[in-house]
Amino acid sequence: MRPILYLTSCLVATSLAAPTFFDDAYNYSDEMAEFLGKVSQHIHGDVKDLLHKATTCDPSSIALPSHASGLPPPDDQKPAYVAVGRGTQNYTCTDSTSNSKPEAVGAVARLYNATCIAANYPDVIHTLPGLAYKLTLPPGDADPLPPANIDLLGHHFFESKVPIFDLDTTTSRKFGVARTKKVSDIDAPSDAIQGENGAVAWLYLETVDGTVGGYSGVYRVDTVGGAAPKTCEGMESSFTVQYAANYYIYKS
Ligand SMILES: *[C@@H]1O[C@H](CO)[C@@H](O)[C@H](O)[C@H]1NC(C)=O
Ligand SMILES: *[C@@H]1O[C@H](CO)[C@@H](O)[C@H](O)[C@H]1NC(C)=O
Ligand SMILES: *[C@@H]1O[C@H](CO)[C@@H](O)[C@H](O)[C@H]1NC(C)=O
Repeated sequence: MRPILYLTSCLVATSLAAPTFFDDAYNYSDEMAEFLGKVSQHIHGDVKDLLHKATTCDPSSIALPSHASGLPPPDDQKPAYVAVGRGTQNYTCTDSTSNSKPEAVGAVARLYNATCIAANYPDVIHTLPGLAYKLTLPPGDADPLPPANIDLLGHHFFESKVPIFDLDTTTSRKFGVARTKKVSDIDAPSDAIQGENGAVAWLYLETVDGTVGGYSGVYRVDTVGGAAPKTCEGMESSFTVQYAANYYIYKS
């Protein structure tokens, strides 16, 4: 089922008593409250229109959140997909003392297709990583993300230090691969959800050779968690930190 459709049927069926509906997935939280609050603002209108907009959209209307103005603008690149990413940032430490600092060595995350949410409900999209952060990923790699049943779009990982966004998931769902390099970063805004050690930076990555599918750039925004502790004190030689973020993927 499609995300907004699923939520809408829950909300309508339970007269907005949504929390009990989601108890199995995780505990009701501030993030959930914010998300449902934003979604509920959209269901006063025509429900048929809302359902239609959850599954069809014009990605050209997708806009980055305002804080991303600190990154290079997309200029004439065209928005293709918005994915909610959920996974870990990986770090290494040379020793476990406060004399050394963690070094970022990559990340691994599943990417879920939130394109039409971004296009039609821009106020909702920015709350999704906060919600995704609280979730344990579903057991099956290809399972949709609860509680809104958002479909898997691809995987984010590193290959020889190259950040990859692999959107080929099955033989029938092949949307290409963006191989990227970081161009610039800015601190997450002060109201970002911090997680364990703070929210990782917002980034602009541009694609490099080996990219398939016409992708030109990727923005990592709306970050939640993922930052390393300030020093290596008490840390293992390699460790992961949970994070979530929205990835805005552009084509040339
Ligand atoms: C919800 O919170 C309770 C009490 O803090 C805890 O025991 C339980 O494991 C939590 N459930 C989930 C799914 O996180
Ligand atoms: C993303 O989701 C939208 C809305 O459900 C759908 O129309 C679109 O085909 C999906 N794209 C991919 C690449 O999965
Ligand atoms: C990051 O950590 C995960 C979980 O331990 C691991 O599967 C993945 O290969 C690691 N990736 C990198 C680039 O270190």
